[in-house]
Amino acid sequence: MKIAILPGDGIGTEIVAEAVKVLNVLDLDFETGYAPVGGVAYAAHGHPLPEATLTLAKQADAVLFGAVGDWRYDHLARALRPEQAILGLRRHLGLFANLRPAICHEQLAGASSLKPELVAGLDILIIRDSTGDVYFGEPRGRRVATDGHFPGQDEGYDTMRYSRPEVERVAHVAFEAARRRNRRVTSVDKANVLETSQFWRDVMTDVGRQYPDVALDHMYVDNAAMQLVKAPKNFDVIVTGNLFGDILSDEAAMLTGSIGMLPSATLNASKQGLYEPSHGSAPDIAGKGIANPLATILSAAMMLRFSLGQPEAADRIEAAVRQVLANGLRTADIYSEGTTKVGTAAMGDAVVAALMRETAVH
Ligand code: IPM
Ligand code: MG
Repeated sequence: MKIAILPGDGIGTEIVAEAVKVLNVLDLDFETGYAPVGGVAYAAHGHPLPEATLTLAKQADAVLFGAVGDWRYDHLARALRPEQAILGLRRHLGLFANLRPAICHEQLAGASSLKPELVAGLDILIIRDSTGDVYFGEPRGRRVATDGHFPGQDEGYDTMRYSRPEVERVAHVAFEAARRRNRRVTSVDKANVLETSQFWRDVMTDVGRQYPDVALDHMYVDNAAMQLVKAPKNFDVIVTGNLFGDILSDEAAMLTGSIGMLPSATLNASKQGLYEPSHGSAPDIAGKGIANPLATILSAAMMLRFSLGQPEAADRIEAAVRQVLANGLRTADIYSEGTTKVGTAAMGDAVVAALMRETAVH
């Protein structure tokens, strides 16, 4: 098993180091290779996704990714900004299925901006297409308008598009995932306005017929945004396009009150995957040793489960994280009175210790 490790910018290095610590005590047989990505890669090599980094990622079974983003590079042309690294990896590795769980651990329900009873025990899975839509659709650019509301004026434009196979494959991922959960899929679109969305809805309905044991419903994206804060526990699996999924997954993450806890996976057709925390590079706290490494540690667990064929090791990591929370350890982002505040490395060490204790008991 080969794991490409791309720590990236900001807190990326610190949190990925803790995940690697955890992987190393599991007694698994894997090779690792490190490469720069994002702003640090631009600084060293003039590009956020250097050729060597892309090659390492392509040759690996899985990519463990920290975070990218650094305000120092915001003035660069779009193609050179740190964010392009993640978009490039998705595109070049064909990573189309972005799995973003939003789970609210009972013990952390108080950290949510919603009432605790609305979110305690929340467990939803957003599956977002991540290689299509207006993110990648051509043509795009700037031009002088020849029609529209202001002919002769400058305009910017993008293209929203989805092909049948693109919708079908992400639909299958969603229905399969629902079979392992509560057998409900909500497909989110804007079919009352957009052709692309009506097409998306039709294809979802077609694929849904192959899964009579899974309930499929459709929801407009504006309503979905509202339902997510009104009654989030009514959802099981949400499947949606790239742009709507980008927005709704941030909203869902925030419901849990602890974005520092949420892992994510992005898979391609051969189950090669990129695993990263749902949060960003948090430059304001980088290097301070206070970032929460649990989202990255839980991403490593997803990696073991989905790309490396080690579901038991994944379960063990998740159990160790629950144990550490039950013991009252908290990084600053999830701290509340009566718990014990720890830093990044101490949190990683605690997960390692929980894993070792559990091994000793066996
Ligand atoms: C995400 C991020 C990216 C996206 C950015 C960094 C390009 O917001 O992974 O959700 O929009 O997909
Ligand atoms: Mg986003």
